[in-house]
Amino acid sequence: MAIRFIVAGFILSLLSACGSEPLDGAALAQEKGCVACHGAQGKALVASYPNLNGQWERYLRLQLRAYRDGPRVNAIMNGMAAELTDQEINALAAHYGRES
Ligand code: HEC
Repeated sequence: MAIRFIVAGFILSLLSACGSEPLDGAALAQEKGCVACHGAQGKALVASYPNLNGQWERYLRLQLRAYRDGPRVNAIMNGMAAELTDQEINALAAHYGRES
């Protein structure tokens, strides 16, 4: 009987740990298709796409919000950013960028 409570408690603590865990930016970049143009580490695949590696994290975050919310206009990136949540933008910027 007690074992059931222990197992249930363990599962609950796992679930709450997942909820508070920051998103994995590297996995998100794969999942969202960013890697197809910007590469897994931010080195772009062709010269017409910008490198993201080494850029400030804060700058990347602001650009992604600007693409999503409208101020920065680009046919590709407005579409790519349209559905991103703030949390996803933070994780992607943290993955590709570096701390200021
Ligand atoms: C089809 C290719 C393509 C894909 C896929 C793509 N991008 Fe881009 N990205 C571009 C291009 C082209 C630009 C330059 C747009 C411009 O001139 O504003 C750009 C610009 C950016 C910038 C601004 C860079 C700067 O120096 O100002 C960021 C940040 C960025 N992309 C992040 C992402 C993220 C994160 C994803 C995935 C959600 C993504 N991109 C998916 C092609 C792509």
